[in-house]
Amino acid sequence: MRPTATAILALAVQSYAGLIRMGCSQLNIQRIDPLVTPGAAPSPHLHQLIGGNSLNITMNPATHDLPSLSTCTTCQAADDFSNYWTAVLYFRARNGTFHRVPQLAPLGFEGQAGGMTVYYMTGQLADLEQTNKATAFKPGFRMFVGDINAKTLEAALPYRQLTYTCLEEMSTRWPETKYFPTKPCPAGIMVNVRFPTCWDGVNLDSPNHMDHISYPESGTFESQGPCPSTHSVRLPQLMYEVIFDTKPFNNPADWPDDGSQPFVWSFSDTTGYGTHGDYVFGWKDDALQQIIDEPCYVNCQTMKMQSIEQMNACTLEPQVVEDIDGWVNEIPGQSMGMRMQKH
Ligand SMILES: *[C@@H]1O[C@H](CO)[C@@H](O)[C@H](O)[C@H]1NC(C)=O
Ligand SMILES: *[C@@H]1O[C@H](CO)[C@@H](O)[C@H](O)[C@H]1NC(C)=O
Repeated sequence: MRPTATAILALAVQSYAGLIRMGCSQLNIQRIDPLVTPGAAPSPHLHQLIGGNSLNITMNPATHDLPSLSTCTTCQAADDFSNYWTAVLYFRARNGTFHRVPQLAPLGFEGQAGGMTVYYMTGQLADLEQTNKATAFKPGFRMFVGDINAKTLEAALPYRQLTYTCLEEMSTRWPETKYFPTKPCPAGIMVNVRFPTCWDGVNLDSPNHMDHISYPESGTFESQGPCPSTHSVRLPQLMYEVIFDTKPFNNPADWPDDGSQPFVWSFSDTTGYGTHGDYVFGWKDDALQQIIDEPCYVNCQTMKMQSIEQMNACTLEPQVVEDIDGWVNEIPGQSMGMRMQKH
């Protein structure tokens, strides 16, 4: 019998020789972006942010040492004070008002307050002996992936592993699309953000926050694609899974009658092609390198763990306070964007 694609994918994941998978609850949801628009309060669009509580409007890499400035983290790994963030999803009702779509805890992390799942993958399907080592990110390392202005598949393709999964159930992992699901998804919409895995070995950041990193020259991280000579240092694959709980918004009678889908990113993208993710590294000492050298699959001896209660207890009051919940007439900061964009 021909195995289903879902079965193949599940097998592939189980065969990773090195993989950190951890839940991270919500630190806050607000309009700041210390990587792309440091100092701007509010930043152009709304984000959901997780990780260490030294998160701030400005995080100067020369002076802002995340592990020493943080007193807690929302991530399961107690030594991880990094910050991770993505945009936020909104539902647009027929009457033109918007409602923020809340996030759901992943399977196995029931009770986690919002947030997302973070992966660091090191070994690969075909590399069970870990001959191909990964080098952990260095203090001060930051990166961004995606193009918030992408409105077509062509524009989104360079960011080849930013995708959506329409969840039939919480464990659905296939297929993935580059655009928003076009039909109601019974268990929610999962946003998958896989960062590039090759580094130039020198620059901790770059003006567009992407030039210092690269996807493999050919293929993917999963298929053992080689890093280009300009970016020869192999990083772990950082991946986010963000599950948006679209269940309350799945009534076909509430969807546009022209057959389009009603979800919109907090930066006014109704296509989904503009999805993006941000990362500011902040693991304590060499904790990340130790874990990825172990190597281990989810249960890592060298990873200091905290409970879901401890993760949830780490929160940070938003510095930019505005009305983001309930039915709102405009997505925060987006009045012009939505008016200009054909729905
Ligand atoms: C954010 O930075 C400002 C200025 O350095 C500082 O006063 C404030 O305490 C910081 N906030 C947090 C939550 O760390
Ligand atoms: C707009 O539509 C939503 C969803 O049907 C509804 O809950 C809300 O009350 C409506 N708002 C207005 C101002 O009619």
